[in-house]
Amino acid sequence: MTAERINGKAFAASLRERVGEHAAQFEASAGRRAGLAVVLVGEDPASQVYVRSKHKATVAAGMESFEHRLPADTSEEDLLALVAQLNADEAVDGILVQLPLPGHLDEQAVIASISPDKDVDGFHVTNAGRLAVGQSGFVPCTPLGCMMLLTERLGDLSGLEAVVIGRSNIVGKPMAQLLLDANATVTIAHSRTKDLPSVVRRADIVVAAVGRAEMVKADWLKEGATVIDVGINRLPPAEGEEKGRLVGDVDYAGAEGVAGAITPVPGGVGPMTIAVLLRNTLVAAYRNAD
Ligand code: GUN
Repeated sequence: MTAERINGKAFAASLRERVGEHAAQFEASAGRRAGLAVVLVGEDPASQVYVRSKHKATVAAGMESFEHRLPADTSEEDLLALVAQLNADEAVDGILVQLPLPGHLDEQAVIASISPDKDVDGFHVTNAGRLAVGQSGFVPCTPLGCMMLLTERLGDLSGLEAVVIGRSNIVGKPMAQLLLDANATVTIAHSRTKDLPSVVRRADIVVAAVGRAEMVKADWLKEGATVIDVGINRLPPAEGEEKGRLVGDVDYAGAEGVAGAITPVPGGVGPMTIAVLLRNTLVAAYRNAD
């Protein structure tokens, strides 16, 4: 059996198109465009690539993009002052401070300073709390994108066994909450889990978010499982390669022979994150305009 390849890239493109249509309706009714402010501190190359893609996608969806690039030695006071200014700015519906921040800045303090109603990343404790108790708020983009791919593929998730590998605040924990809300039976596995292969083997749904290249092997999977690979890892360059290949947390070539469906890396979960960010920004615009 060869697993169905879950085409996150195509799903993300159609989500972006739908968001674009709604953004045009928002503009017509509100008399202004929905706006996303992205703050980048320093010159981390990966973050620069992400921020550029977010800017392009925001503009392409018919929304306003406000980019703030600050030097690496920006003080916490100055960064908090910028966030306060964006919180107060009526043209700004969503605020995203790109992580990781340089080491001298307290990420938790910076996230806490963002208005929860503009926190389109869903990282503020108020939004984490809302998700935990089932109130509507903003849900982190990557796990929400994973849920969209899962429900598109499987429909109702009630009673399915789901194993989330990884317990980060950004992916693992919110992912588990979302699966629980969808009535799956959820296990969160992590680096201290005993006999991880046998835990994973009982899963109808596997979400791998550990950041370790090709860690999940084919013989860990139940036949027909749906596998969502959140990892993006670059392998060391092989002979004759300038850059190493990008791979996920799952050994795709092996897993393809066992799983029922699997997201590729790249082209699976990755493109969903930005599409959901645009969706969250538009939701923020409608909520803030009320
Ligand atoms: N860095 C890597 N991914 C993300 C993300 O989704 N949001 C923010 N703010 N920073 C990131």
